[in-house]
Amino acid sequence: MTTTVSQSAIKKTSTEETLLTPRFYTTDFDAIANMDISSQEEELKAMIAEMRADYNRDHFLRDEDFKQSWDHIDKNTRRVFVDFLERSCTSEFSGFLLFKELSRNLKNRNPILAEVFHLMARDEARHAGFLNKAMSDFNISLDLGYLTKNRTYTFFKPEWVIYAVYLSEKIGYWRYILMYRHLEKHPEYEFYPLFKKFESWCQDENRHGDIFKALLRSQPSMWQGWKSRLWARFFLLSVFATHTLTVHERADFYESVGLDAQEYDREVIRQTNETSARAFPTILNVDHPQFFKRLERCADRNEKMKAIESSNAPKIVKFFRKLPLIAGIFWDLLVLYLIKPIDAESLRGTVR
Ligand SMILES: [Fe+2]
Ligand SMILES: [Fe+2]
Repeated sequence: MTTTVSQSAIKKTSTEETLLTPRFYTTDFDAIANMDISSQEEELKAMIAEMRADYNRDHFLRDEDFKQSWDHIDKNTRRVFVDFLERSCTSEFSGFLLFKELSRNLKNRNPILAEVFHLMARDEARHAGFLNKAMSDFNISLDLGYLTKNRTYTFFKPEWVIYAVYLSEKIGYWRYILMYRHLEKHPEYEFYPLFKKFESWCQDENRHGDIFKALLRSQPSMWQGWKSRLWARFFLLSVFATHTLTVHERADFYESVGLDAQEYDREVIRQTNETSARAFPTILNVDHPQFFKRLERCADRNEKMKAIESSNAPKIVKFFRKLPLIAGIFWDLLVLYLIKPIDAESLRGTVR
């Protein structure tokens, strides 16, 4: 991966940290090395064979379409697009680091998982590198080497990593494919050639998600019993709430490619939820009349909190003005968490 950019480019070493910034994770490598994956071994071996075939080897090339000037893109579109690239690059890179570390730590102890993680790290490095190159077209790039050393890593138990990464791969798949399909129908919004790469790109994410599905199903405690059901609901809601808040916060970007932010967010969530029924013991009832209503109210409150934060009021005043909003978000999320979920185990075999 390269972080070299033209001399006039700005090399960013830090991004603004908020609750919604993509995070970097670490986990208990010993526990993963000792995981009994025997019930899904055949599935994982088949995935390794597919990943070795490396269908996207020549996909992430900067072809002729990229060799032009982007000066015609207006300032606002450029700003929101660069922000989109930066977030996407950070989360792809975060995946790369986690998979690389897993592969390195499992090398002599669990060869199947070591290879699986090595192949996924390969893909994520390509994705992050490609996005960083796109950023350099706009004279900015992320210093990925610096990020590696200086970001704080959040510790996640192996089970949490599996639930969270499964969801982030599948939501990533739906985000890329829905944007691709929309731009295929409305090429007039395709202001930069990155989007046409999304069709094959998202197949990488789909495969990664399937690998995590195999890992999840190899651990009966992750889909049997009441605890697993509570965790599944927790991770689904966390990922969906984060998605709604970020998409609404960045509605300008979605508008710049002709998408309605609200509709896009809802569709990504509906599809990811439905897909998750293949792996998770329960999924959320996103068709419940309160579901999007409350989720979107959280996004509105988040916007209001941001406005308060950027005001000139003293810190203590800001805090008391934000307090009812925080309580409101917390309450809405709690109500959402308690909406009766859908039993995915009984649906198994009938869903996509
Ligand atoms: Fe990726
Ligand atoms: Fe991925």
